[in-house]
Amino acid sequence: MAPERLKAPRGTFDVLPADGERRRSLRTAAERLLGGAGYAAFESPVFEDTALFARGVGESTDIVSKEMFTFEDQGGRSLTLRPEGTAGACRAYIEHGMHKRPAPVKLSYWGPFFRHETPQAGRYRQFAQVGAEALGSDDPSLDAELVLLLAELLEQAGVAQLRLRLSSLGDAPTRAAYGEELRAHLRAREHELSDEVRARIDQNPLRAFDSDHPGTRAVMADAPLLVDRLGEADAEHFATVRALLDDAGLAYDLDPTLVRGLDYYTRTVFEFESAALGAQRGVGGGGRYDGLVAQLGGPPTPGVGWAAGIERILLAAAAAGGDEQPEAEPTVYVAVAKPEAARRAFGLARALRLGVDARVELEQAGRSLKGQLKHADRVGARAVVIVGETIEVKDMRSGEQRSARDEHELMRLVMGP
Ligand code: HAM
Repeated sequence: MAPERLKAPRGTFDVLPADGERRRSLRTAAERLLGGAGYAAFESPVFEDTALFARGVGESTDIVSKEMFTFEDQGGRSLTLRPEGTAGACRAYIEHGMHKRPAPVKLSYWGPFFRHETPQAGRYRQFAQVGAEALGSDDPSLDAELVLLLAELLEQAGVAQLRLRLSSLGDAPTRAAYGEELRAHLRAREHELSDEVRARIDQNPLRAFDSDHPGTRAVMADAPLLVDRLGEADAEHFATVRALLDDAGLAYDLDPTLVRGLDYYTRTVFEFESAALGAQRGVGGGGRYDGLVAQLGGPPTPGVGWAAGIERILLAAAAAGGDEQPEAEPTVYVAVAKPEAARRAFGLARALRLGVDARVELEQAGRSLKGQLKHADRVGARAVVIVGETIEVKDMRSGEQRSARDEHELMRLVMGP
């Protein structure tokens, strides 16, 4: 009996070559953009002590209470596959004394993250994020710079129908006082609310802003807004962020009802949505987290950053017709005219790979010469090097064929005029 075939676990996926190339070109664009603004490449482990996320992301969030892949290692320690990257970046900042470096410390990352969510289009249990964090300064220009970098990345990636929601949460005491004020407002008109909102007044009064229920909407129309309750410094900080975005000509919706699924945010919060995506419309988001490093045992350190989902970026770009393959690199194909020439062809392919700025492919599947030329055409080769008694270079556009006496001449012919 044939052995049972196994499949990738629910909510995970394989990245096959066409998608792999799109991801690679997105990663290259992100690295260029973020590197150009001083965000150095950063990596942290894929698993961390469970306590990091419990303390960093917040026990009451969906992420920590329901969605973490947590396991015990052989030594009985509780570890968790990282559901997000900010807590790990702050842990590393503290662990390596990065506060001694000139501020701001700018980090960027790309890698896998894990959340035990119900899988659907754009929502997976393993997904990839690109992210950027700036630690050690509360300068509002960092908030604006980061928002603009994400806008630029999404635009370069071809994400369609984008909307930027922007708000400020102020500091923790402001938020707590506001929560009480909002609860009081909801309780005073409890009979007008939907059952669902009424049941969640204590846990999550902000949810009421998202309701479609007519009675609830009427109550929310004159609910107090957190942005109107900001302290002077927080209000000024937010005004500067907005002014910088205005100067840059980036449109945004001020949305006092924006709630993010992580507890660490203070001051600026933002989220980019793409209407091309359906239910999972959040492509990327973030904000300021001025209390997080201290909360994790480090020195008081402000921070701000964002993360964006790679799969959602590519889905939203595809919806806008942006899923054609990135332009292929110029390709040179090394063909083997007869079996005795295979060894020489192997050496020449290696020399070409080191010497020319092109992708070099070698015949490695035992095709006939005719089959090889057809294959070279299929992979879009610009030139074919035919290795037999002699070395011939065939220009695939003109059809012209020339002999190379040695490796040096081969390089010259392959690179063209
Ligand atoms: P987040 O909003 O939880 O923020 O996630 C950022 C992005 O990751 C989302 O906008 C979405 O594109 C993608 N994403 C999240 N969950 C999934 C999933 N299950 N499947 C596919 N994509 C998903 C954070 O993670 C914060 N660490 C962002 C941040 C950085 N804030 C400050 N610094």
